[in-house]
Amino acid sequence: MIRVRPVEVADAEAWFGLRDALWPGTPDDHRTEIRAFLSDPPARETCLVAEGPDGGLTGFAELRLREYADGCTSSPVGYLEGIYVAPGHRRRGVAAALLAAGEAWARARGCTEMASDRALDNEGSGRFHEARGFAEVERAVLYRKEL
Ligand SMILES: CC(C)(COP(=O)(O)OP(=O)(O)OC[C@H]1O[C@@H](n2cnc3c(N)ncnc32)[C@H](O)[C@@H]1OP(=O)(O)O)[C@@H](O)C(=O)NCCC(=O)NCCS
Repeated sequence: MIRVRPVEVADAEAWFGLRDALWPGTPDDHRTEIRAFLSDPPARETCLVAEGPDGGLTGFAELRLREYADGCTSSPVGYLEGIYVAPGHRRRGVAAALLAAGEAWARARGCTEMASDRALDNEGSGRFHEARGFAEVERAVLYRKEL
């Protein structure tokens, strides 16, 4: 039984742990962003969390409304900014349940399209997106140089 719900103030530490596992290396940024979100939740963003049978958090998804997303023809678009399920809870439909709740959130705000992205080498994420109905629309090569 997977329960998905919006994040709450009491989830701050668990959300931090999951967020840091997905995007490691910026703990201060995570804490600042989590504090800001929980103290004044932005209307155009949400964080959904999944609870396991013991009530602990097993995954989260962050979404926002974006004015534009590559390959989409409508605006705003519901954008899946990040989704993560703790390793011991994968392949049990947790991410699918988080995404379904995220889609309902976007639909309720007038969206008719969802968009997302992934790193080129993250094939597990690619399989997940395709299994849940996303179609690839573009590939990008990003550059940087030292100044
Ligand atoms: C990608 C991720 C969120 C999927 O979470 P999950 O809860 O295991 O996904 P689900 O159980 O809901 O999977 C739904 C379907 O997606 C597909 N799928 C999910 N993960 C897959 C994988 N690693 N390999 C192949 N197919 C996969 C399957 O079709 C699966 O259905 P099935 O298990 O009945 O075959 C999870 O693996 C994860 O957190 N990965 C690390 C973080 C990450 O890559 N996030 C995405 C960044 S863009």
